[in-house]
Amino acid sequence: MPELRLDTLLSQFGYCSRREAPAWTKAGRLTRSGQALLRPDQRAAPEEVLVDGSPVEFPRGLLVLFHKPLGYACSRDPAESPLIYDLLPPRWSRRLPCPFSIGRLDRDTSGLLLITDDGPLCHRLTSPRHEVEKTYEVAVAAPFPPGLAACFASGTLLLRGEAKPCLPARLEITGERSARLFLREGKYHQVRRMFASQGCPVTTLHRHAFGALTLGELPPGAWRQISPGQLA
Ligand code: URA
Repeated sequence: MPELRLDTLLSQFGYCSRREAPAWTKAGRLTRSGQALLRPDQRAAPEEVLVDGSPVEFPRGLLVLFHKPLGYACSRDPAESPLIYDLLPPRWSRRLPCPFSIGRLDRDTSGLLLITDDGPLCHRLTSPRHEVEKTYEVAVAAPFPPGLAACFASGTLLLRGEAKPCLPARLEITGERSARLFLREGKYHQVRRMFASQGCPVTTLHRHAFGALTLGELPPGAWRQISPGQLA
């Protein structure tokens, strides 16, 4: 990463505004190799700088796996509060570029959500041509009708209001009222609409996996850093 002016670095990585930066540097809060960096116009590579003794967070861009709890909206609109961003460090929301979720989960859906500030990565992971397989754990209110797996796999299921049918999706029935669905696209409320269209309203929905990534033991509301290589 190229060197940045320290006032730019502090504001770009969400620590403080450019106006506040001179007070931060003057107070000796930024160091490189044990030396205080005292001037805001001084330049340094973000990877080399410590702020209050800690490395600059995500100096090459932010990519984390987040366990979205139920009840939170994937939105930045305060009118939709509570928001997933309320659960993430406030400093992240002051970064430039500002991190966002790769795709969305409904307020009433829990599970694996990726958060990044990398626009091209998001485009690659969500574009219909490259859609990564997502795995959903579904519970429904009514018994599954016969032939449901074949219906979802057919590539002919046309949801109301859509111009194109759903891409073929794999369904594994795991219980009398529970199933796992593997999808390679992300139409609006797609899982709920697919099941509802066949007379099976969804009662709970959880995204278990995004490609090869799973939440593991990560509790709801927690996050962990991942590398772009893990998304291959
Ligand atoms: N499909 C849905 O219906 N809701 C989600 O949150 C994700 C996929």
